[in-house]
Amino acid sequence: MTYKELMDKARPQMGPICKACYVCDGRACGNNMPGPGCKPPGNVANRNYQKWQEICVNMDTICGNEEPDCECEFFGKKLKMPVMAAPLAGMRLHYGDKHSDPSYSQALVKACFNNGIMGFVGDNGNFDIFKGMLEAMPEIGGFAVPTIKPWHKQAVYERIELAIKYGAPAIAMDIDGAGLPFLKQYNLDAGSKTVEELREIIDYAGKPFIIKGIMTPVAAEKAIEAGAAAIVVSNHGGRVLGGLPSTCEVLPGIVKQVAGRIKVIIDGGIRSGLDVFRAIALGADFVLIGRPVATALFGDDEAGLKLYLDKIEAELKYVMTMTGCKKLSDIDGSKIFGA
Ligand SMILES: Cc1cc2nc3c(=O)[nH]c(=O)nc-3n(C[C@H](O)[C@H](O)[C@H](O)COP(=O)(O)O)c2cc1C
Repeated sequence: MTYKELMDKARPQMGPICKACYVCDGRACGNNMPGPGCKPPGNVANRNYQKWQEICVNMDTICGNEEPDCECEFFGKKLKMPVMAAPLAGMRLHYGDKHSDPSYSQALVKACFNNGIMGFVGDNGNFDIFKGMLEAMPEIGGFAVPTIKPWHKQAVYERIELAIKYGAPAIAMDIDGAGLPFLKQYNLDAGSKTVEELREIIDYAGKPFIIKGIMTPVAAEKAIEAGAAAIVVSNHGGRVLGGLPSTCEVLPGIVKQVAGRIKVIIDGGIRSGLDVFRAIALGADFVLIGRPVATALFGDDEAGLKLYLDKIEAELKYVMTMTGCKKLSDIDGSKIFGA
């Protein structure tokens, strides 16, 4: 099956808003929520995608002829490339009936594990549903990252305990979920956290902790101060606030601020191996891909995800070959035109 055929197969299974576009660039779904779109004015997902396309890479094929190696390690777990699946929740609401949150997350983490990458799991509010989302973890040796919403302390602690019990190598929090109305419906104390509150949570976890939703050098510094082991440069794909810059635009300033002290992960509009290369060249250590992973899984379950990931890996290795990069550490700012 080709990727186009996979998207054609996914389309009727995706609910009315997602059009399973060949290039998932946020234009067809734009201002549509519930659905995979984004908040008004509805252009952040498209800006995320578009800004990657403006970055040109430098070609140099005077080099050895070995196959590029893009294997890497993520908190003690080996990955076949620096790509992971982003957390997505609210599947029925956003994508229709094919998957509940537990069935999507369980299928996702197993398919990711079988294909050599890590899957992040989202959080929709209900503890039993969150538990269901994590239930496939023990059989894959805990190979997944639960991503907890910024609930009140007790609810965060309950979820951390579960994540540890199921063997998670790291735990994440999408701190940018702070303003989401459904958080307040569950508990009025849910929402933004201070550095001190985050430090307490991170100490309680006693595991590498990842703060997702960092968009400024100042916020990155606060995450470091709180004890985060990694950040995800993310604007939640435009789903929490309109009018944000693309993640690609803010990445260099954040990388400069972090200066290698913690890992930098990025998401938002990364669709191809070329985009992965661009992100690594701008200083990210890993990338997350959200919407197209869902489309691939809806289209043909694990085989669909394998097809998409094989495509990304082949593209990344091809760009590495054509830019004289034999390993990930060869990909740096010198490979970006004009940087
Ligand atoms: C339908 C949907 C649900 C999402 N749910 C979550 C979530 O539960 N937790 C989270 O941290 N991010 C969530 N996200 C944001 C993604 O993890 C990711 O940051 C965003 O989609 C940008 O990546 P992309 O452009 O590759 O899709 C969700 C995104 C979508 C489209």
